[in-house]
Amino acid sequence: MRSWSMLSSARVATSTFIAAFGVLWWLLDSSAIHHSGFAHALTFGSSSSSPSSSVQSSTASTTTATSTSRSSSSLFARKLPRFPHDEFSKGGDTERLVEVHRPVETLLERPGLSTPLGKPKIVVLGATGRIGRLVVEKLLSQTTEMTVVAVVRNIRKANRVLFDEADLFVERSSSKRGKPTLELVEANLVPPQEVYGYVDEDDAIEIEHAKSASKYFGNSMEEYDFRDEAPDPNEALEECIRDCTCVISCLGTDRTTNAWTDFLAMPIWRLLKRDASSWCKDAHHPYYVNYATTRKVVGMAEREQRRRNAIHSTEQEALEQELVERGQVLDETTKLPKPDRIRVIRISDNYVAHNPWSFVPLVVNIFKSMVFQYQEMSEILLEQSSLVDTVVLRPADLTDLERDVNSTMLLVDATSGAVPTPANISREDVAELAVVAAITNLKNVDDGPDKNEKRNAQTNGNKPKPNKFWRRQPQKDEPVHYTIGVSWAHHANDGLPNAQACMAKVIKEQKETEKKRRKREVTLYRYNVIQRAFIRWS
Ligand SMILES: NC(=O)c1ccc[n+]([C@@H]2O[C@H](COP(=O)([O-])OP(=O)(O)OC[C@H]3O[C@@H](n4cnc5c(N)ncnc54)[C@H](OP(=O)(O)O)[C@@H]3O)[C@@H](O)[C@H]2O)c1
Repeated sequence: MRSWSMLSSARVATSTFIAAFGVLWWLLDSSAIHHSGFAHALTFGSSSSSPSSSVQSSTASTTTATSTSRSSSSLFARKLPRFPHDEFSKGGDTERLVEVHRPVETLLERPGLSTPLGKPKIVVLGATGRIGRLVVEKLLSQTTEMTVVAVVRNIRKANRVLFDEADLFVERSSSKRGKPTLELVEANLVPPQEVYGYVDEDDAIEIEHAKSASKYFGNSMEEYDFRDEAPDPNEALEECIRDCTCVISCLGTDRTTNAWTDFLAMPIWRLLKRDASSWCKDAHHPYYVNYATTRKVVGMAEREQRRRNAIHSTEQEALEQELVERGQVLDETTKLPKPDRIRVIRISDNYVAHNPWSFVPLVVNIFKSMVFQYQEMSEILLEQSSLVDTVVLRPADLTDLERDVNSTMLLVDATSGAVPTPANISREDVAELAVVAAITNLKNVDDGPDKNEKRNAQTNGNKPKPNKFWRRQPQKDEPVHYTIGVSWAHHANDGLPNAQACMAKVIKEQKETEKKRRKREVTLYRYNVIQRAFIRWS
C-alpha cells in the first residue's frame, strides 16, 4: 500500500514537472513572446539597441547599410551574452559609442584614403598553421597585384615554414607589377593581458608599495596609482585590418581538456557557462583562440567598415552641395560608388552543424575543451555582423593527402552548411576554397526581384505587409553571410571538380542559404533563452 502511494506521488510529481516544462516551452515557442518583454526579461546582459541605433545616427551611408537588417538582427543581437570579464568587449563597446556620437569629420583620420583602395590587401591569420601556410602560398600564386599580409605569432617559425619549406622568398622580393607581394607581421592574437589572471609584475610590485604607503600615511590608494599607460597589444592587428579587403582566419587550437581547471576546480553549474574568461588562465583555450580572436577581428573590421562608410558619406554630401551650388540636378549618376565591404573568412568545423549530444561532437567537446561550442559561437558572431560580408568554411576531417582530381570531386553544401560524415578533405582544398572565397565577387548573381520587392510592386508600394524576421529576404545592399560544409565526395559522380565551381554553386544558392541561416538563428535564440533562464535559476 505504502509503495503504491509512493508510486502515485512520484507519478504526480513527474507529470507536474512535464506539464510545467511544456508550458514553459510553449511560452518560448510562441513567436508573440519574442515581441513581448517576457523573453527579454529572461535574458540578461546589456541591451544591444544602443550601439546599433547609434551606428545609424552616425552617417547617412551607414544608415542604409544597417537599417534594413535592424528589424531582424536587433532581436538576435542580445543572443550572445556580453561577458562581464571581457575587457576587449567592454572596450569595443565604449569605443563604438564614443565614435558614433562624434561628428562625422572627426572619423576621417586618414582623409587620403577616400580615394578607392588600390590593390586588394588580404590578411591571413594563423599563417604558419597547416592551412594558413597553404592559403598564403596560393594567394601568392595568383596573377593579380595584391598585398598578402601573413600574421604570425613567431617570426622565426614563419621564416622556416613560409620561406624554407614553401620557398616563397622569390615572391617576397618581387616588386613586379601584376604580382602579389608578401608582408609578414608578428602579432600574438591572444595577448597575455587579455587572459584571466594576468598580472603585470612591475605593476604588482608598485601596487604593493603603494598599499603599504597608503596604510602607513592613511592616504587614498588613488594617489599612489602611478601605473604607466600600457601599449595597445592589438595595435599590429588593427594596423593590418586597416585598408584591408579581406581577412582569412585559419586560427585553431588543439588544447586537451584539463580535468582539474576546466571541470573540478569550479562549481559544476559553471559547465553551462561559456564564458571562460572568468576562470581560464590558459591562452590556448578555444575560448580565446577561436571565439575571442574572432570577436576582436570582427570588431576591428566593423570599425574599419564604418570609417570607410563615413568617408563615403562625407564625400557624397560635399559633392551634392557643390552640385547644388552650381545649379545641377542630383540624380543616380551623381552618386559616388559605395565602398566595398570587408570580407571575413573563417575555417570552422563540419561537426559544428551536428547535434552536440551526438557521439563524435560530445566526445571531442569533452576531451578538447568544448572546441565545437566555441567554434559555433565564433560562427554566430560572424553571421550577426550587419557591416561585413562573412564566409564560414566547415571542412570535414582534415588530411594532408592530395586529392586525385580525376577520381575525387569536391562536395559543398551551403544550404544546410554541413556535409555527410564521416568524410575527409585535404587542407590544400580547404585553402583553395578560402582563396577563391576571398577573391570572388560574392554578389555577382542577380536573380531578379525578391519576394518583398514583388509584393511592393503589386501594391504600388502603398501597403507593404510587415515582414516576419524569419521570412525576410536579404536586401540587395545587405552584407552576405555564407556557411559552407565542404568535403571530398564519396562517389566519383558526385560533387564538383574544383573550388571555383564550388563557389559558383554556393553563390547561386544564396537566397536559400540566407533563409536557412535565419531559421537557425531563431532556433539558437530559443535555445539560448532556455539556457540563460536555467543558469539564472541555478
Ligand atoms: N583537425 C581537423 O581534422 C579539423 C577538421 C575541421 C576543421 N579544423 C579546423 O581547421 C582550422 C585550422 O586547422 P590547421 O590544421 O591549419 O590548424 P593548425 O595547424 O593547428 O594551425 C592553427 C594556427 O593558429 C595559430 N594560433 C593559435 N593560437 C594563436 C594565437 N594566440 N595567436 C596567433 N596565432 C595563433 C597557430 O600559430 P602557430 O603556427 O604559431 O602555432 C597556427 O598557425 C582550425 O580552426 C581547426 O579547428 C580542423
